Amino acid sequence: EKGGYEHYMRKEIHEQPRAVRQALSGRIDELAGTVDLDLSLSEEYCRSLDEIQIVACGTSYYAGLYAAGLLEEYADVRVSVHIASEYEFKGNRDPWRTLVVAVTQSGETADTLRALRKAAGSGARTLAVTNTVGSTVTREVDDTVYIRAGPEIGVAASKTFVSQVTTLTLVTVYLGQQRDALSSNERASILEELSAVPSAIQQVLDAEPTVQREAKAFADSESFFFIGRRLGHPVALEGALKLKEISYEHAEGFAGGELKHGPLALVTEDTPVIAVLTDETNASETLHNVKEVESRGAPVIGVTSDDDPNAVFDTTFDVPSIGLMEPVVGNVYLQLFAYHVAKEKGRDIDKPRNLAKSVTVE
Ligand code: M6R
Repeated sequence: EKGGYEHYMRKEIHEQPRAVRQALSGRIDELAGTVDLDLSLSEEYCRSLDEIQIVACGTSYYAGLYAAGLLEEYADVRVSVHIASEYEFKGNRDPWRTLVVAVTQSGETADTLRALRKAAGSGARTLAVTNTVGSTVTREVDDTVYIRAGPEIGVAASKTFVSQVTTLTLVTVYLGQQRDALSSNERASILEELSAVPSAIQQVLDAEPTVQREAKAFADSESFFFIGRRLGHPVALEGALKLKEISYEHAEGFAGGELKHGPLALVTEDTPVIAVLTDETNASETLHNVKEVESRGAPVIGVTSDDDPNAVFDTTFDVPSIGLMEPVVGNVYLQLFAYHVAKEKGRDIDKPRNLAKSVTVE
């Protein structure tokens, strides 16, 4: 049932082009620049919205951070993203003008459900973005958008992250359309970039031997750092989580600009830095950070769509130039990197120690 793959995780990583196609299927009209998600949100409600609050845990939280960057920019709405276990619905906000979005692959995460119940109890409208048909979350919200990734067996989330980001991008375009924040041309161009994701991911998957080689070379490092800005920041955080979860190695993700405020003290020749420098990630600023870590002797892997990265990187993971969605495509390199480091170390990749696929305790 692993379809010839040694691990579910690798199978699921390779299913991503199809997963993204499924998330988009029948929902977009690329020429007209419209999205239909079968939601019960009226145009009037969407226009009156004052804030979107996203609640989620782990990888889903990082998908939420990614979505927040898009929503603020393209749907012209204030967004806050909350680790579900830290969420308090603040009474000083206007619940009738607040949409609370729960992002949860399983639809069963206790922390996320608890946050959602708090919000719903205060009168906010709720929307679930989930992979699991009929899950608890879908029974408790006003609206559900399925990410349609198909079953994910590996404890580490891979295809569901990419599918969540894809689906939340559709939600962004939908709200941009309802709120009149985006012209039809702007919407069409985002949808065009979104449609380019499956084949861009395929190109990344085809480069797996390069990733495997680097993973082998660095597997015994003391620690791994991931940096990125803007949409590259949640990708860096997610890359670090994936690596620590399945390889048991120490990894941290940082906003590139934060390095000099502390983490730089940890950087040595034995701490590879993986830097996300694609479109929408303020790549030129991140390049300064790359130079900072290189001058401390750290090897740097650049996840980049830049054709001429001035040879600053020790290794480059090339991301096809597709614009807005490049960072999430770059994330596929980080999934493969985590997978191959874990494999090199002989870890139990699909069932990492101490972790469960769905966390139903608070
Ligand atoms: O089912 P959910 O999306 O609500 O799960 C949230 C987290 O438990 C989950 O993403 C976890 O962080 C993954 N194991 C990460 O790979």
